[in-house]
Amino acid sequence: MNILLPSEKISGTETLADYRARGGYRGLEKALRMEPGAMVEAVAQAGLQGRGGAGFPAGRKWRLVRESPVETRYLVANGGEDEPGSFKDRYLMEHHPHLILEGALIAAGSIGARHIFLYVNRTFDRSRGSLAGAIAALEEDGLLARLQVNLELFDAPECYVAGEDTAVLEVLEGRPPIPRKKPPYPVESGYRQSPTVVHNVETLANVPFIAREGADSYRRVGTAGSPGTLLFYLNEEFTHPGVYELPFGTRLRHLVEQLGGGLKSGRRIRAILPGGPSTAFLPADKLDLPLDHKSFLEAGSLLGCGNVRLIPEGDCMVKAALDAAKFFARESCGKCPQCRMETNAFVIILDKILAGNAAAALLPQLEAIAAFSRGKGDCGLIHMAAAPVLSAVKHFSDDFAAHLEGRACG
Ligand SMILES: Cc1cc2nc3c(=O)[nH]c(=O)nc-3n(C[C@H](O)[C@H](O)[C@H](O)COP(=O)(O)O)c2cc1C
Repeated sequence: MNILLPSEKISGTETLADYRARGGYRGLEKALRMEPGAMVEAVAQAGLQGRGGAGFPAGRKWRLVRESPVETRYLVANGGEDEPGSFKDRYLMEHHPHLILEGALIAAGSIGARHIFLYVNRTFDRSRGSLAGAIAALEEDGLLARLQVNLELFDAPECYVAGEDTAVLEVLEGRPPIPRKKPPYPVESGYRQSPTVVHNVETLANVPFIAREGADSYRRVGTAGSPGTLLFYLNEEFTHPGVYELPFGTRLRHLVEQLGGGLKSGRRIRAILPGGPSTAFLPADKLDLPLDHKSFLEAGSLLGCGNVRLIPEGDCMVKAALDAAKFFARESCGKCPQCRMETNAFVIILDKILAGNAAAALLPQLEAIAAFSRGKGDCGLIHMAAAPVLSAVKHFSDDFAAHLEGRACG
């Protein structure tokens, strides 16, 4: 069952009339008639978890902001999506802008925010175009005037860290995308020190269903720990690439084999990178894992942003770890010395191992550097960088041994 996407694929942008024809904005009308606070409780009871990567309970953020004594509050829809190979936010913004806008309007009304920022990667022309069109349609319709809410489309810089929630706030305030030290968290002191909820656009896209159908209906899909559905993206390496909406708990094998048709090259699977470069590699025998947060955490990885990649037999896992390490070294903003040190050290060490120039004693240094970095840094990038590196060493130690001994790997 789909919660976000209509059963028929929409090739262009869904218009206001088309969206209304499939029940669009009925959730908002229902939310407007609810008792104060009831929608916040519905989101909490539905168990909606943030889709920005960490899976944080949305209801908790909403409660904190709603209960704040500070009257001026803000909502930010995060459409930065700079994770390489991630496409699901763009898909939603391009094809279903009203789904995001309805979710944002319900969220803003529930937490008492009168200003909504739509923070969209400035390189996503089609996303910005479709959201701008949807805002214009709502203005013409008179809905925004009736609600007395401002919707502001804001250009986001195209660098990875610009999607981190406090870096988002810095950008909105006119500064470069450098994360703030936490606490305070955005829900306490966000945009211009006011309580602010920052949500991934997919998180907001779940809200209309909860408003329209109720928390129990939402919980009927997915698992007890991870209710609802998640968007997954399979890239061009798959036989059937695309964005798929699946209930949490679906087997990974169903996604990559039945829906994705496996690798187009026909090569067998060696490793899985379940949710983008910030998640740990898993060996191919984890293909039967249910797609939910708990199962992936227990297996030593994360669902991340649902951008599933398969690494085929014959590919070198030292090289795969180095590619991920290079990404984080390039994207570290440089504010925290420990993060700069860690991300660059990973690249130097993995480069040496790959080239067959490393002493065996260098390998344990990867774990030592990661351990030294734990709990440090102002944002999560420092921890993200370690996941692909350490998991490659753990599950594919033969490749590392081969390079250290000057043998062929794979
Ligand atoms: C380095 C870094 C980059 C991030 N990039 C994004 C992003 O592009 N989009 C996003 O929604 N969240 C991103 N996040 C997560 C945000 O900080 C934040 O947790 C999220 O927007 C909250 O939304 P949610 O509650 O809907 O999950 C990033 C986090 C880090 C540490």
